[in-house]
Amino acid sequence: MKRDLAVRRLDEPGRPVVVRLDGRDLELCDGGNLAAELLAAGIEPFRRTPVSGAPRNPFCMMGACFDCLVEIDGVTRQACMTEVAAGMTISRPGAVSETKND
Ligand code: FES
Repeated sequence: MKRDLAVRRLDEPGRPVVVRLDGRDLELCDGGNLAAELLAAGIEPFRRTPVSGAPRNPFCMMGACFDCLVEIDGVTRQACMTEVAAGMTISRPGAVSETKND
């Protein structure tokens, strides 16, 4: 289901760089907020809860809710507190691929 995001870029986007997401290449803006860049690319859910499997996406965008957890280069981190960098490898353990662009 496509949703319009209430996200607006405040500065000029960085140059496009390639990252690896769940085993495939994806172009995001260098230095952009990883959570915002993934949402803008139509990536969701970011994870699923371990008990019920409920889908989770970024909520607070300020490091408080932990709903944006993804694995970045083998370490579980908050996407909203991470800047995009070329070559980073991101995975969404337990998240079923529901990417809008699939
Ligand atoms: S969106 Fe809440 S911690 Fe990242």
